[in-house]
Amino acid sequence: MNKFFKIERIPGVLASSYEKATRMVIEEYYGQVAEEIVSSFKSGVILDLGTGPGYLPIEIVRRAPNINIIGVDLSRKLIQMAQANTAKAGLSHQLSFEVGNSAGLHFDNASFDRVISTGMLHSLNHPVAVLIEIYRVLKKGGEAWIYDPANITTHIDKGKWKASLNFRERSFLWFFKLLGLHKPITAYTRQQVIPMIEATDFESFEIDERKNDIRIKLRR
Ligand SMILES: C[S@@+](CC[C@H](N)C(=O)[O-])C[C@H]1O[C@@H](n2cnc3c(N)ncnc32)[C@H](O)[C@@H]1O
Repeated sequence: MNKFFKIERIPGVLASSYEKATRMVIEEYYGQVAEEIVSSFKSGVILDLGTGPGYLPIEIVRRAPNINIIGVDLSRKLIQMAQANTAKAGLSHQLSFEVGNSAGLHFDNASFDRVISTGMLHSLNHPVAVLIEIYRVLKKGGEAWIYDPANITTHIDKGKWKASLNFRERSFLWFFKLLGLHKPITAYTRQQVIPMIEATDFESFEIDERKNDIRIKLRR
């Protein structure tokens, strides 16, 4: 799985197609993950890596007025969408978004109570470098919850999604498929993830492996 170089960032021309897909599963997917997160975490600062259009952070702070979240993504287009979605939801006082690379964050050591990430791990060229950064920015005792590929696609009505795409969006998707750059997503297995975690200093971890989906909880 790691033999080939991966395109980490969702290309700008595909950002709106991706955003349309995620918008279809706000309640079923992001709402449900947000519930899981706020059930054990009520206040503090969260870092969301590979935040995309920001729907997960929005759903979290809707449920938790004492949580603040910073979302980071390589895609400028998606960060702009996350900022617009946040302003529309009236949640700019709790959420901020910035362009950045999870493998080299500018935040100080021990800045965050929790780090979360949905759907990013499989796309990383250097997953261990990202885990080491997560460890560095987490406070002692803080946790990272990484869901990947985050099972988002299973919730999407593909026919409805395709029908929502305009000619330009369909053409770019077709073009990327033709080049072999837009492929079905494969989850890491427990056997692949354990050596990555062992290359870091995390105190303990839990792995919940599901059908084409893996949920990793790391404690610093
Ligand atoms: C499948 S999307 C998931 C987006 C969002 N978390 C969600 O659940 O809808 C993966 C995101 O990770 C971003 N990404 C990939 N590699 C990254 C990196 N090294 N640093 C920051 N963002 C990255 C991509 O640009 C993309 O927006």
